[in-house]
Amino acid sequence: MNTSVAKTTTTSRCLKLDTQMHKDTNERYTHGHHSSVVDQHRRRTVEEAAAFLLPHIEPTMSILDLGCGPGSITIGLARQVPDGGVVGIDIVSDVLEQARELAIDTGTSNVSFNHGDLYSLDYPDNSFDVVYAHQVLQHLTEPISALREIRRLLTPGGIVAVRDADYGTMVHSPDTREIVRWLELYHQITSRNGGEPNAGRYLNGWLHESGFEEIEMSASTWVFHKPAQLLNWGDSWGDRVTKSSFAEHAIEYGLCTVEELEAIANAWRRWARTPNAFFSFLHVEGLGRTSQSR
Ligand SMILES: C[S@@+](CC[C@H](N)C(=O)[O-])C[C@H]1O[C@@H](n2cnc3c(N)ncnc32)[C@H](O)[C@@H]1O
Repeated sequence: MNTSVAKTTTTSRCLKLDTQMHKDTNERYTHGHHSSVVDQHRRRTVEEAAAFLLPHIEPTMSILDLGCGPGSITIGLARQVPDGGVVGIDIVSDVLEQARELAIDTGTSNVSFNHGDLYSLDYPDNSFDVVYAHQVLQHLTEPISALREIRRLLTPGGIVAVRDADYGTMVHSPDTREIVRWLELYHQITSRNGGEPNAGRYLNGWLHESGFEEIEMSASTWVFHKPAQLLNWGDSWGDRVTKSSFAEHAIEYGLCTVEELEAIANAWRRWARTPNAFFSFLHVEGLGRTSQSR
């Protein structure tokens, strides 16, 4: 491995954890938990990321948020169920600590964050009214196994709610060679890690195949065109392509050089400052229910 990337990555304990393969499926999480990634995830809100689920939530419900990351959406879900509760699960302990701190800072008492592996969770059958997973299935080698585990955990008539990006729908302007290369690299790395970068388009099939009923699909787009949006997205990827697990995996798999990653980072920063720049992509959302008569 090139030493400058190795030096960057070994400074973070989270990154070292993230380089581990899943013990059963051999998948690796492409983004990792460098602050450049987690700071971005922490900006997410229940109002945006779970808009498709909110009309179905009742105040007494118990909700499981799988792959909860830093917990901003999880805490938003907890606000929706003042007479119920929410559990956030993640396979990486460090990010759960950050989620717990956010719960304390926001005074949210009906939420807890536990370490666990979503393929095999230590909860009895029929434990939750709703199981939600945001931007998680795309990173899994076996999304249908994960959905079957979700089905086990749901009460009869319980709701699964999943949302995943589809990287194959990403468009940007001005046309920037390095950003096109970034997207190609993202597909290569994620596929090598066992994930599915175009997961959004497959959610409908995965939900059917794993035995859910009353499936409803929807989609929403992220659009960045205002200066603050462009700066946030472009500068975030400017950092992520050299500091996060993305960089580590790209170099380890021999897909590019550190110099190329630096050129991509600089291109992201230039793009973010280009007047009238534009970026958009699709998120696909799926709702399903377990049978009432299980
Ligand atoms: C893209 S992040 C999404 C975080 C959060 N849901 C959000 O949208 O902000 C995916 C999360 O799934 C977690 N994850 C990946 N594989 C997992 C597994 N097998 N069990 C539990 N969590 C997992 C990762 O550690 C990461 O925090």
